[in-house]
Amino acid sequence: MSAGTAGASPGGFPRPGFPGFPAVRPRRLRRTPTLRRLTAETRLAAADLVLPMFVKEGLADPVPIASMPGVVQHTRDSLRKAAHEAVEAGVAGVILFGIPAVKDARGTAADDPAGVVQVALRDLTADVGDATVVMSDLCLDEYTDHGHCGVLTPAGEVDNDATLQRYGAIAVAQAAAGAQVVAPSGMMDGQVGAIRAALNGAGFDQVAILAYSVKYASAFYGPFREAAECAPQFGDRAAYQMNPANGVEALREVLLDIAEGADAVLVKPAMSYLDVVRRIADTVDVPVAAYQVSGEYAMVEAAAARGWIDRERVIAETLTSIRRAGADIVLTYWAAEVARRL
Ligand code: PBG
Repeated sequence: MSAGTAGASPGGFPRPGFPGFPAVRPRRLRRTPTLRRLTAETRLAAADLVLPMFVKEGLADPVPIASMPGVVQHTRDSLRKAAHEAVEAGVAGVILFGIPAVKDARGTAADDPAGVVQVALRDLTADVGDATVVMSDLCLDEYTDHGHCGVLTPAGEVDNDATLQRYGAIAVAQAAAGAQVVAPSGMMDGQVGAIRAALNGAGFDQVAILAYSVKYASAFYGPFREAAECAPQFGDRAAYQMNPANGVEALREVLLDIAEGADAVLVKPAMSYLDVVRRIADTVDVPVAAYQVSGEYAMVEAAAARGWIDRERVIAETLTSIRRAGADIVLTYWAAEVARRL
C-alpha cells in the first residue's frame, strides 16, 4: 500500500499528519480570548448606539412600561436625568418620542412649540446637546386620537399629501426646538422631500434627516404601542408600512428617500430583517441605521426573566449581528446599559 493511499480517508481527503492535510486551520485563531478579540470582524462601540426615550406630558412620576421591563415613560425631569446617564455611558445619540396630554384628529400637539417633545428637545439640547446627537422621531401616531400616522380622508384612509403638510410643520417645530436630526417614521410617500423643503424654507438646512425608509408593518411593535399610547383605533398600518414579504421594495424605498435628500436611512425592525440591512448596506453610500424594536427587546427580557437565556450574552449577540449585517448605527433600548459595559 502506498503512503498516499494510507494517508487518505475513504472519501479521499488527506488525514491529519499526512501530506496534503489542510494547513489552514480556522480554529488556530479561536484558541484563546486574546486571539478571538484580535480577529473579531465586528465590534460594538458606544459610538454606534442610539437610545430611544419616551416622554409624557403631565406626568408626576415615571411610568414603567409593563411589556418593556426597564423602560419607562419619562417625566420632563426624569428624562433629563436619564439622558445625562446615557450620555455619561457614552451613547452616540438619543431619539425622543412624545406622548401629549391631549390628542386630536390632526395631531395638533406634534408641532406646538410648547408641545411635549419640543419642550424635551430644548431641555436636552441645553443639557447634553454638545455631548450626544439629540434626535426626534417625526410622526403623528402618538398625537392623533385615531392613532394613525397621518391625517385621514373623510373615508378614513390616511391622506398621504395632507399628511406631508403636517410633517413639514412638525419638522420645523422640532428643528426650532433644537433637534439636530429628525427621523420621519410615518412611511408616507414623499415625506423626505417634503420635510427637506420645509426645513430649508425655515432656515434649518443644517438639520439632518434620518429617514425610516424601510419600516415594515410589524407585530414586533406591540410593546411600543403601550409605551407611546399609539395603537391605531381602527384598522392597521399595512396600507403605509411595508409588507414583511418584500425585500426588493426596500431598495426602492431607500433609493427614493436618498434622491429626496435623506442623510441616513433606517431599517426597522432589525433582527427579522438582517438580509434587508445587508442589501441596503451593500447598495447605498449613506449611513445605514437599524432599529431593534420594542418586541425584540421584550422577547429577550421575557425569556431572560425566566432564566431561559443568558440575558447579557444574548443582548450582545443581537447587537453584534445587526452590526455584522451592515448597520452603522443601532437604535436599541439597551443602548445605555450596553454602552456602559463596552
Ligand atoms: C411610529 C413608530 C412606531 C415605532 C417607532 N415609531 C410604531 C408603529 O409604527 O406602530 C415602533 C418602535 C418600537 O416598536 O420599538 N411613530
